[in-house]
Amino acid sequence: MKTWSRKDFLKASLIGGGAAFVAGQTRLYGQVGGAAGSANGDIRVGIVGFNAQGFGHLQNYLPGSRSKLEGAVLVAICDVDDKVLAKGRDAANKAGLKVAEFKDYRKMFASKDIDAVVLAPPNHQHSIMTIAALQAGKDVYVEKPLSHNIWEGRQAVEAARKYSKNIALIGTQNRSSEQIMGAIAMLRSGKLGKIKWVTGTCYKSRESIGLHDGPQAVAEGIDYNLWTGPATLTPPTRNGPRGTVHYDWHWFWNYGGGDITNQGIHQMDVARWLLGAQGLPNTVMSFGGRFGYRDDAETPNTLVSVMNWKDSAPLIFEVRGLGRKKGMKAMDVYRKSSVGVVAQCEHGYINIAETGGAIAFGNDGKQIEAFQGADNGAHRKNWIAALRSRKVKHGLLEEGHYSTSLCHLANLSYLAGAEKANAQLADAVGSDLAAKDAYWRTLDHLKANEVDLDATKPIVGPVLSVDGKTEMLSHPDKLIADAANNHPLRKRTGRGEFTIPQLSATVAKS
Ligand SMILES: NC(=O)c1ccc[n+]([C@@H]2O[C@H](COP(=O)([O-])OP(=O)(O)OC[C@H]3O[C@@H](n4cnc5c(N)ncnc54)[C@H](O)[C@@H]3O)[C@@H](O)[C@H]2O)c1
Repeated sequence: MKTWSRKDFLKASLIGGGAAFVAGQTRLYGQVGGAAGSANGDIRVGIVGFNAQGFGHLQNYLPGSRSKLEGAVLVAICDVDDKVLAKGRDAANKAGLKVAEFKDYRKMFASKDIDAVVLAPPNHQHSIMTIAALQAGKDVYVEKPLSHNIWEGRQAVEAARKYSKNIALIGTQNRSSEQIMGAIAMLRSGKLGKIKWVTGTCYKSRESIGLHDGPQAVAEGIDYNLWTGPATLTPPTRNGPRGTVHYDWHWFWNYGGGDITNQGIHQMDVARWLLGAQGLPNTVMSFGGRFGYRDDAETPNTLVSVMNWKDSAPLIFEVRGLGRKKGMKAMDVYRKSSVGVVAQCEHGYINIAETGGAIAFGNDGKQIEAFQGADNGAHRKNWIAALRSRKVKHGLLEEGHYSTSLCHLANLSYLAGAEKANAQLADAVGSDLAAKDAYWRTLDHLKANEVDLDATKPIVGPVLSVDGKTEMLSHPDKLIADAANNHPLRKRTGRGEFTIPQLSATVAKS
């Protein structure tokens, strides 16, 4: 069995989206006379949003932390929730740091004492903050997904182009996985033959968030206007274990896109990377529903989406929030994968794990090659490397935009769909073998969860055509096309002081 060497990695890192460099960078940290950085050359970092994911980032910049990133120091924190702000302040103080505190990110970005910002607020704030930070001359690490909707993601990409003196990187951390680069190098070598299709699986337990009546109160200390930002200002209508504001926004269209844009974006990004698919697909079709319980949430907990490109194999993406069978928390496994990506080729298949390891099998199921190891914070180290070298090698914003948009497109077909009987769903899935297989497996999964598809009908979406240049959708039925194009997941421009600037004519450059 072949072992994976550093040389292979270097070769692999020149493959596909990982190879592009951003030209024209001038700012240098830590050089004599350099324009940026603290007196000792440390990069001065501000963190925005650190209830959960952002808190992990925050710890990366605290002296004495096990995950400390070298050459960077925390100088500012920003959160709209007083309690979260206090948690960040305490952590910084304990590490011997005094940090500037902000509730309004715009004030933080105006500070001359910050070089780079890490953005980990909810999804609906990602694009607007990325653009504002770049306009203010900051380097940006923005958490995945890049956007709440396709249009604003394109504006963020355009901002990265326009303000290319700054670094902009997206936190799809698998892009820094040497193991995935190895697996892709193997695929490209042709050892397994051509790719026939790629399946992304996001089987992750998502329980009911409870059912509540009417608007719920916002906890004291949260500036809800700032929290809402470019979304529609409306009271929260959820009150799960995490309260009325934090985290469960994922399951509401005003802020998130369900698990496909939450966990799924990671696997979507890897799937598109494996395929070598350039830009958006030519068509997308989805079906699914929120099955097994009734609660406040809006997004489907079960979704299958089929995407086709003219020049590459199809991509099938499956989201499952229910367990293996009714009452079980353990999740289904598809070809050794619960959360992962499987690329089926002519002579075998490759399985990419959630944490970045990969194994190639022959069609007889025998292991051919393993790319072992897991993510040890490589992406965050690469972010610091990008800041110093002024080159983004892993996590280009435009790649993030396309992968994020795939999630939006999958949701848009679902949202333009209608409840249909199972027999009509079978017809809609068509004759594509991989799509049919996903359909049958999904039916089995729902049956095991005692979901009665006659009582709770699946939503079956239309096949939408996608124009890769305008990033708009079409369908023979104008009503369907208009519904998809006018949906906020396709385009939302923001609200009042949180209006997203239009930097591109929405026409993709490539
Ligand atoms: N890369 C990964 O593997 C990974 C893992 C988990 C989460 N994430 C991403 O990180 C982001 C945050 O996730 P989370 O689970 O921490 O969510 P969360 O809702 O628990 O926390 C978000 C925080 O952002 C704050 N916030 C909201 N609006 C703000 C604003 N305008 N200014 C400043 N702060 C604001 C909130 O008060 C909260 O403290 C999400 O976009 C998620 O997709 C990425």
